[in-house]
Amino acid sequence: MTEAPAKADLLIVSRGPWLTLDSGAPLPRAGAAMNEVGERHDLALAIAGERILEIGPREEMLARYPDAGPLDLGHRLVMPGFVDPHTHPVFNRTRELEFEMRNQGRSYVDIAKAGGGIRNSVRSLREVDQETLEEQLERRVAAFLRLGTTTIEAKSGYGLSLEAELKSLRAIKEVARRTPLDLVPTFLGAHEIPDEYRDDREAYIRLIIEEMIPAVVREDLARFCDVFCEEHVFTVAESRRILEAARRAGLEIRIHADEIESTGGAELAAEVGAWSADHLGAISAAGIRRLGEAGVIPILLPGTTFFLNLDRKAPGRKMIDSGLAVALATDYNPGSCHTRSMPMIMTLACIHYAMTAAEALSAATVNAACSLGLGQDRGLLKAGYRADLIALDLPDLRYLPYHFGGENFVSHVIKNGRLVVTNDAAQPS
Ligand code: NIG
Ligand code: FE
Repeated sequence: MTEAPAKADLLIVSRGPWLTLDSGAPLPRAGAAMNEVGERHDLALAIAGERILEIGPREEMLARYPDAGPLDLGHRLVMPGFVDPHTHPVFNRTRELEFEMRNQGRSYVDIAKAGGGIRNSVRSLREVDQETLEEQLERRVAAFLRLGTTTIEAKSGYGLSLEAELKSLRAIKEVARRTPLDLVPTFLGAHEIPDEYRDDREAYIRLIIEEMIPAVVREDLARFCDVFCEEHVFTVAESRRILEAARRAGLEIRIHADEIESTGGAELAAEVGAWSADHLGAISAAGIRRLGEAGVIPILLPGTTFFLNLDRKAPGRKMIDSGLAVALATDYNPGSCHTRSMPMIMTLACIHYAMTAAEALSAATVNAACSLGLGQDRGLLKAGYRADLIALDLPDLRYLPYHFGGENFVSHVIKNGRLVVTNDAAQPS
């Protein structure tokens, strides 16, 4: 006789495939284990409150939880909600003009040096109040949710003054209260040197260290601190000073590293014990080794490489073959990558890095969660984990990166145990 089950609020039933990601391999999923997606069929998943209570064979579970009003998903594919561990969603105006300029021959770096790029977004964010930022952000995060993403990391970084950075982070905190999607906040005051400090970068770095970081911590506005460590932005030495100050103040670390030039950003991430090193288009062989030794998760952003039309791709295949635990993210932002679609990112990752669909799925769920320090809480379908799951109108996993270009095949989104999106139009095949 089995013991009497605890009470379930909702029972999710499907013939499957179910991609539980619960393979038993250690977290994060590294190297060959990235191919283990825990595929099963004919399951049901019981939810109590915000958590997964139990997963088991369909018929057995239906008998065990007769009062949990089953949500029958037919033959839909069920998997954990996507976790997007690198986004810049707090901005005012979009930058479609710069997209056109790049396509007519100007480079991203040239546009930035001429005062466009991030500084363009900074000027425009400073014009609007916090309430306007909240309205924009709330609309944007609803789109993430519709595409099946249930957690995003969200950076500031288009304010670059004490007031405008606080305004951005307060907007994230406020919207996080109003939306089902979880937003994990990151302070990115070191995203660029703003116009008024171009002749005195040292003064701006001191402003970050002496005023911004303490204020962010005082108001509990961020979990992480990030730096754009790149040849034309912050040097390795400057980044180190900022990140060490952030860590002393109680923030955890992630880094934009070696995106366009190899400056030693990955090595710095290993040295300072970052959770992640992101971009890595120009990472050195030593950088790959150091990430592995230090257990830093490489977050690859193939949407950015695609949107900037860069020839040099991050060595994703080599990283996995070297035993690293790769994660994927959109890098959603108004300049270098304007997409919120994790399925699109999986497609690009399969093409750019010769990843399998299974590797890309691990990178977009469990490893992404681990890169945010949330691997024990989300990214898998397992008893005790947060009930964040999505259903897709797809026959199998391989179809997910194969059918590219933004058609939305996410039919149901369950976040913290509640059904928050249903999309009857999800019928791609
Ligand atoms: O991750 N690399 C730095 N920051 C963003 C780009 C921001 C922008 O162009 O507005 C990125 O690609
Ligand atoms: Fe970024």
